[in-house]
Amino acid sequence: MSRIPIVGGNWKCNPAKLAEANALLEAWKAKPFDKEKVEVVIAPTALHLGSVKKTLEGLGMQAAAQNVGKNDMGAFTGEWTATHLTDMEVAWTLIGHSERRSKYGETDDETAVKVEKCQAAGLKVIFCIGEQLEEREAGKTDEVNKRQLAAVLAKITNWDLIVLAYEPVWAIGTGKVATPDQAEETQAAIRAYIKEAVSEEVANKVRIQYGGSVTPENCAELIGKPNIDGFLVGGASLKPSFMDIVTTVG
Ligand code: G3H
Repeated sequence: MSRIPIVGGNWKCNPAKLAEANALLEAWKAKPFDKEKVEVVIAPTALHLGSVKKTLEGLGMQAAAQNVGKNDMGAFTGEWTATHLTDMEVAWTLIGHSERRSKYGETDDETAVKVEKCQAAGLKVIFCIGEQLEEREAGKTDEVNKRQLAAVLAKITNWDLIVLAYEPVWAIGTGKVATPDQAEETQAAIRAYIKEAVSEEVANKVRIQYGGSVTPENCAELIGKPNIDGFLVGGASLKPSFMDIVTTVG
């Protein structure tokens, strides 16, 4: 089964100014890509999301939130829901990014509630999983990925709304990219687990991104691997050369 690759740009808490975001998007305009061959989803800060979304659409890209609340509407200061995102015609959100898990204490159970809310709202999710360095060194990589996935599987009724992002935590923002063989081996194990726990059909169609120090220089070899269906890019998505990653993939 052929899967259309998908490249995400997670801007995290950057850039400082909307003008900088607009300048970056202006630079991307100079490098068009084939929308039939690769899907591109960009996650700006929540404050920039509304404005940046319009420009992204002009470039043939989609917008994502970096997070979504686990509660419904109500007295939850500082939060927003999947319903708010779909009402604002934002098609995507990230859930379970390692920075949400490690810096804000997001638990597996909370990711499950969030995924459930997104499924109900029809919101697409890039669901992030991945092991810490000590877990890899202890040979627990597959165990950790399975645990993080197992928490949400029962909540997923529509797999067309789900993309998985495998992001080894030790590779995020460190410049220490996983080798293509390391990423492929782990992502093949993730797909095998989906086959066993869900179905062969879902395992064949679900797209699995790799994330962690992806650059224009290292992306070609990674995308050559059969179980790598695109990337979730952090730092390198804040540069004009991000489009080189997009055009390498698609
Ligand atoms: O969401 C993106 C990942 O955290 C990867 O970040 O490309 O800066 O390593 P990075």
